[in-house]
Amino acid sequence: MRAFSLICLSTFGLCVAAGTLNARAETAPTASLAPYEAVLAKRDALKPASAFDTITDRNARSLALYAEAAKVITHPRCVNCHPVDNVPRQGAMMKVHSPPMTGAVDGHGPAGQRCSTCHGSENFEVGGDRIQSIPGNPKWALAPKSMAWQGKTPGEICRQIKDPARNGGKDLEALRHHMAEDELVGWGWNPGKGRAPAPGDQATFGGLIKAWIDTGAACPA
Ligand code: HEC
Ligand code: HEC
Repeated sequence: MRAFSLICLSTFGLCVAAGTLNARAETAPTASLAPYEAVLAKRDALKPASAFDTITDRNARSLALYAEAAKVITHPRCVNCHPVDNVPRQGAMMKVHSPPMTGAVDGHGPAGQRCSTCHGSENFEVGGDRIQSIPGNPKWALAPKSMAWQGKTPGEICRQIKDPARNGGKDLEALRHHMAEDELVGWGWNPGKGRAPAPGDQATFGGLIKAWIDTGAACPA
């Protein structure tokens, strides 16, 4: 049983749906998460690249490393900002952004309603049971359509992120660096109160990407 109410701060043009959960069976650390986020948080941990050393066939090892890294790449924390239609998504269920929002021309939103109107340089706790925080990062913006991952198979995303024509002109080393070091990518593991982080941590993820590239960056069908 849930009850939702809408809190609107007219000065910011900002509405936040605050919900109350009557039944909470979860135990810490998922107790504070909304139900679908709690499901996400319980997914498998991320294996390090070394867990795949026993696979002797180079191509098979590369495919296994990518499959592990794809646990992160297909996670809502990433996909919510890599949509097909220039419309950001929210939450574990990847619902259309509320209030209505588009990346507009440069990924930063339309004039007068830029992402930075509501998304600051750090996560901002607002309280409430459903929405507990507003995400924040200095680079907060929507990925362009050429980098859309939403609704695509891991194989399709794999070929796309390797393609400089669609990945912002990156060679494999630049792609690895972005995955391993970019602070906006890093937000996926520091998503603010009420959101499940992406599996593992950015260093482990970066290690998987490096090992995947070192073994030929194979893509599944
Ligand atoms: C707040 C929105 C946002 C989130 C969250 C986000 N990204 Fe992105 N991503 C972007 C934007 C904007 C770009 C394009 C600008 C750039 O390259 O820095 C981008 C580009 C990329 C690229 C460049 C190549 C390509 O083809 O996509 C990769 C790789 C990437 N993101 C990985 C990730 C991963 C992995 C996660 C989750 C752990 C993630 N991103 C989460 C906004 C986001
Ligand atoms: C009018 C205020 C407002 C504006 C403008 C706005 N957002 Fe949001 N956004 C929010 C609020 C509030 C939340 C938290 C709600 C939630 O998590 O369900 C949020 C959550 C998100 C999330 C969810 C992250 C996740 O993984 O759950 C993404 C992605 C996002 N915004 C992207 C953007 C992008 C990109 C822009 C600019 C193109 C933008 N937003 C502009 C208010 C806004």
